[in-house]
Amino acid sequence: MTQPTATGPHPLARLGVIVVAAGRGERLGASVPKAFTSIGGRSLLEHALCTVASLPGGGQLVLVVPQDRAAEVLELVAASPAEAHGWHVAVVAGGRERHESVRFGIEALVPSIDTVLVHDAARPLTSGALFARVAAEVHRTGEAVVPGSPVADTLKRVTADGIVQETVSRADLVAVQTPQGFPRELLEAAHAGLGARGSAHALPTDDAEVVQLAGGHVRVVPGELRAHKLTTAADAALLEALWQASVGRADSTGAARDGEDR
Ligand code: CTP
Ligand code: MG
Repeated sequence: MTQPTATGPHPLARLGVIVVAAGRGERLGASVPKAFTSIGGRSLLEHALCTVASLPGGGQLVLVVPQDRAAEVLELVAASPAEAHGWHVAVVAGGRERHESVRFGIEALVPSIDTVLVHDAARPLTSGALFARVAAEVHRTGEAVVPGSPVADTLKRVTADGIVQETVSRADLVAVQTPQGFPRELLEAAHAGLGARGSAHALPTDDAEVVQLAGGHVRVVPGELRAHKLTTAADAALLEALWQASVGRADSTGAARDGEDR
């Protein structure tokens, strides 16, 4: 189902962005898959398309979506600024688990791509600046890079019935977001190895874990509040508030919503 554009990706495109959007969104419980729900009047997929389109230089964007939604997504792509800004977009069907969806995204990358950012569509307000920061650190170090922020709450380990066992030190903990960045070869080899290892480990919930299981180093750069993930209805309310705040800022400064401020 890969649908390259009429011209196909530029043969020298080097940055690939894989946006995984094929989940059902069971915890959100909306009537449509999570990536098709809206924050600030646009779907999570439209947010991702606009943000990637704002990144300078262009490249390849792979959207991994529910199989039965591909036609709808191609319409969103056509209406978005992505291709006009040098982004060549492919749409592929996702898998049963997130890591399978990522693997299908990797398989759609054109040969010239050497750096890959993997991003959850479920983080619709993530700034273009965070994408750029992660990509720059991958280029600087040649290693895997994730955005992370110190944990502010006190953390407790509890039993299933809610009895506190102990306080967990938060001194060396960070909460990790997406986009996560990788040299292509590292990400590709790690995901191939995951398939080979079978189900000995619990399913990885991010790509940094896949790379770490394969023995790779993972570095942290500062994350951001606005990259918060939409998981439940409470997150939707929080993200709406963050969106309204950013619209208010844009209105008062005259900044464009789809430009550098994203
Ligand atoms: N994802 C995916 N393919 C899957 C599962 C998840 O592409 N088989 C994507 C989701 O679309 C989301 C990201 O991975 O953008 C993070 O997953 P999560 O927040 O867990 O989303 P869902 O799996 O859709 O939500 P839930 O677990 O509540 O069903
Ligand atoms: Mg999930």
